[in-house]
Amino acid sequence: MWYLSHIVLTILLWQNNVALCSSMVSLSLYATEYRRPGGTYSCTHCDPIRSSVKNVVQIDQNGSDISYYVNIQLGSDTSSVFSVVVDTGSYDLWVYSESCTNISCISHRQFGPENSTTLEVYYDKRFSISYGQGKVSGVAATDYVEIAGYNMSLGFGLVEDVANSFNAFPVDGVLGLSASDVQINGYPSIMAMLADGGLISRDVFAIDLGTGVNPNGGSIALGGVDTTRFTGEISFVDLANTQGLWIVGVDDCYVNGKGENFSNKLALIDTGTTLILIPSDDALQIHKDLVGSAGVVRTDGINYVIACNTTTELAFGFGGVQWTIDPSDYIGNTYDADGNCVTNIQGVSVNGTSTWVMGASFLKGIYTVYDKDNMRVGFAAKGAGGNDVYNASNPTSSVSVESITLTTSTRSLIIISMSTTPEGE
Ligand SMILES: *[C@@H]1O[C@H](CO)[C@@H](O)[C@H](O)[C@H]1NC(C)=O
Ligand SMILES: *[C@@H]1O[C@H](CO)[C@@H](O)[C@H](O)[C@H]1NC(C)=O
Ligand SMILES: *[C@@H]1O[C@H](CO)[C@@H](O)[C@H](O)[C@H]1NC(C)=O
Ligand SMILES: *[C@@H]1O[C@H](CO)[C@@H](O)[C@H](O)[C@H]1NC(C)=O
Ligand SMILES: *[C@@H]1O[C@H](CO)[C@@H](O)[C@H](O)[C@H]1NC(C)=O
Ligand SMILES: *[C@@H]1O[C@H](CO)[C@@H](O)[C@H](O)[C@H]1NC(C)=O
Ligand SMILES: *[C@@H]1O[C@H](CO)[C@@H](O)[C@H](O)[C@H]1NC(C)=O
Ligand SMILES: *[C@@H]1O[C@H](CO)[C@@H](O)[C@H](O)[C@H]1NC(C)=O
Repeated sequence: MWYLSHIVLTILLWQNNVALCSSMVSLSLYATEYRRPGGTYSCTHCDPIRSSVKNVVQIDQNGSDISYYVNIQLGSDTSSVFSVVVDTGSYDLWVYSESCTNISCISHRQFGPENSTTLEVYYDKRFSISYGQGKVSGVAATDYVEIAGYNMSLGFGLVEDVANSFNAFPVDGVLGLSASDVQINGYPSIMAMLADGGLISRDVFAIDLGTGVNPNGGSIALGGVDTTRFTGEISFVDLANTQGLWIVGVDDCYVNGKGENFSNKLALIDTGTTLILIPSDDALQIHKDLVGSAGVVRTDGINYVIACNTTTELAFGFGGVQWTIDPSDYIGNTYDADGNCVTNIQGVSVNGTSTWVMGASFLKGIYTVYDKDNMRVGFAAKGAGGNDVYNASNPTSSVSVESITLTTSTRSLIIISMSTTPEGE
């Protein structure tokens, strides 16, 4: 049921049944685990706390390493807080519209004129976005958006029609943080607003996703990096294209230090995708080497099952540096009672055989820097910092969408078609 009509990808989860050997196991059952009945979040990592480093806001998740989100405030009512997925793989900010009656909407927070005196809705400006997860559509709107102490008037989407698959995630919308200055609805991106409005001096943001076991949670720094979150040098890799996405060339993948000899692979650095998605031939090769000659790989072409106690060293190379992914990050949920687990690397093609999607399973182990000024992505080893809590109830700066001179003519948004034949139907 994968159908990606745009490159926009987010929170991909097992949707396909895996039929391996004689046992039929429905991995889509895992998705039901993330359904929530609505109301407020009650979990340890969900406090809307902020870091004391200015311009740094906490990234939360609900302990399952599935979707990572930040809390933003929308509109004139400061109690209107929305949890939106931090998604470097898509362009748009959107939240569920108050008028939406789909299950994904009514089980999450919704936004509409009743929540804000400053909201403007443009019913004639409709948009639609297809994610790996499913499709959303709605209308364009503008209102104040507060994040990390910045309060700005911004264009965003109010989603009125949404696939039921989104109901599985404890979030109220998506914050697209692509390398484009423009959202699909034509409004400037949040980073373009901050940079063009002079609120940040560098069009750079940096992300530590955190993990379920990190008591400090994750964080996103806007306008720079949070030096407490990484150690050593940041290794930068130039973007492989200018299509408005954080896509870089892959050196290779390494198993126990030995190169797999992949060439001409590109990687979308995508915090909005849970897993690592690579074409099934590439995935099979990597899994065969992960288990070695004595091991067994079982697959339905999308999901791969190997021994849970596999400790083989796996690394991905970017810009001449090998970034190791811990076995606990590449080994996923238990598959059977015989000590086998599904891995977090799926055989999924998003753009022919060339593009890999490096999702949270990889990114949570490192610190990543998204440098639009220099069109590059940086990777660094994670640091120990991030304990600070900052009270952001008084936004420090503000900018209005009207004050921004848009140069959209020179920054046209290219929507790359990544159509692929439906798989696993
Ligand atoms: C995460 O959210 C899902 C769905 O609401 C819930 O079932 C699960 O218990 C949550 N996990 C934690 C650790 O809060
Ligand atoms: C942002 O500014 C607007 C307009 O002044 C105001 O209505 C809104 O409450 C502010 N948001 C926050 C979070 O302070
Ligand atoms: C928006 O307003 C409606 C109606 O008053 C309310 O039920 C809902 O909780 C509000 N949403 C948020 C996010 O505050
Ligand atoms: C969402 O709601 C709209 C309007 O009621 C309806 O047409 C559409 O089929 C619903 N979508 C889903 C996935 O249920
Ligand atoms: C990659 O190429 C090197 C040099 O030719 C070779 O030694 C190595 O075995 C190859 N790796 C794999 C996984 O085949
Ligand atoms: C993994 O577990 C299997 C039994 O389930 C055992 O035979 C094997 O020795 C274990 N391997 C390692 C590396 O611990
Ligand atoms: C898709 O793959 C082609 C090569 O097959 C490449 O030229 C193009 O840049 C890729 N698109 C994206 C968005 O990575
Ligand atoms: C945060 O700021 C608000 C408003 O200034 C204040 O009432 C509140 O006590 C502060 N909270 C903390 C933890 O400092």
